[in-house]
Amino acid sequence: QNEVYTGGIHGRKPIVPTDFAELERRAKAVMSRRGWAYIAGGAGEGRTMAANRAALDRWAIVPRVLRDVSERSLQIELFGQQLAAPVLFAPVGAGALAHPDADVHIGRAAAELGVPYIFSNQGCAPMEDVAEAMDGVVPGAPRWFQLYWSTDDRLVDSLIGRAEEMGAAALAVTLDTTMLGWRPQDLNLGSLPFARGEGIDQYTSDPSFWEIVAERLRGAADEKPEISLGAIKTLFSIARNVPGGLRKNLTAPEPRAAVQTFLDIYSRPSLNWGDIASLREKTTLPIVLKGILHPDDARQAVDLGIDGIIVSNHGGRQVDGSISSTDALVDVVDAVGGKAKILADSGFYTGADVFKALALGADAVCIGRPHMYGLALDGADGARDAVANIIAELDLTLGLSGHTDVAELDRTALRKQD
Ligand code: FNR
Repeated sequence: QNEVYTGGIHGRKPIVPTDFAELERRAKAVMSRRGWAYIAGGAGEGRTMAANRAALDRWAIVPRVLRDVSERSLQIELFGQQLAAPVLFAPVGAGALAHPDADVHIGRAAAELGVPYIFSNQGCAPMEDVAEAMDGVVPGAPRWFQLYWSTDDRLVDSLIGRAEEMGAAALAVTLDTTMLGWRPQDLNLGSLPFARGEGIDQYTSDPSFWEIVAERLRGAADEKPEISLGAIKTLFSIARNVPGGLRKNLTAPEPRAAVQTFLDIYSRPSLNWGDIASLREKTTLPIVLKGILHPDDARQAVDLGIDGIIVSNHGGRQVDGSISSTDALVDVVDAVGGKAKILADSGFYTGADVFKALALGADAVCIGRPHMYGLALDGADGARDAVANIIAELDLTLGLSGHTDVAELDRTALRKQD
């Protein structure tokens, strides 16, 4: 980890800046307006994004000294896998807005660092292709799959089956996006990525998606029973490469209906605890619920035998004015009492931030926007370096605060500031 640090001392200037503010500035300069709006943007007036940072600032690290910190370990075990650091690449959809081949690059970056990549349900490449690229770096490199629970169970079953097949070590079900949040930056530009065909490849690479499209079209167009699925697929792929995207180009009834089908099946607003209870029959993978903020929801998840929770407000992109991830983390850790693994994300951008999350009781932290900014700046190397910087700073913070192993961190390492 300290290669980053010694490189800096010896005058090597990094392509990916080593602090988040500069990383953000540089990424904005190279990204499209639309890409920036979608990736950097938050819900509403950005209050939750601000709260995520402010809450972290209320916890201060209280370093200890004279404890021999010459040997340190960041390694953890999570769901049977050994990870180089308590960090994961958060699932990010529509990544092509930052870089063509986003998912393959990020997968490689994670494999190089020895930490899991959580494949997004809204990925811009079929999961099998990304898995293959990761295996090319390190065979069996850790990976998870993130599911948005479709309105059609055939798709849910199929995606879970594919995830198991490509070697997912856990299934993260995202609960906070049964509908897309109020996103002014995208709405003001008239550019929601999914309506333009970005982030739908997990569906279009799925045989059951086309079955569902065909079924719905047949039902909706009695007067026109002969529909060529090949033509619809071609239109999807053409539309993705044409400025203006699907909406502008799809005027014929079949492709419009195909796009509408995608929008109808992408996520299930009626999702409830009964669905989660039924998940155990669908998979033997560890189940992780992403987007839990209330301690009562955490307790209910534990009662259902859920293996893990990701405390997250989706990077401040869903409910504006919601509780910060750090404040929610404290409540959830106390409610769960060690009966499930607890991860956190949303606003953890530095090694010190990750240190605080671990000391508050998280087992690991997912990183979202930083790796997307690194990706925009320098592809796979950039995505890797953005997260490597966070890990390197975590290592230094650990040692300089008087600790030798992330496992020993607890709340005595911190003090709450008023
Ligand atoms: C996301 N996030 C997300 N989450 C998820 O479960 N499935 C997804 O497809 C996406 N897509 C997505 C796209 C973009 C551009 C962003 C920024 C985020 C949420 C993500 O997994 C994570 O919760 C947040 O990004 C964490 O917050 P930070 O680190 O970005 O502040």
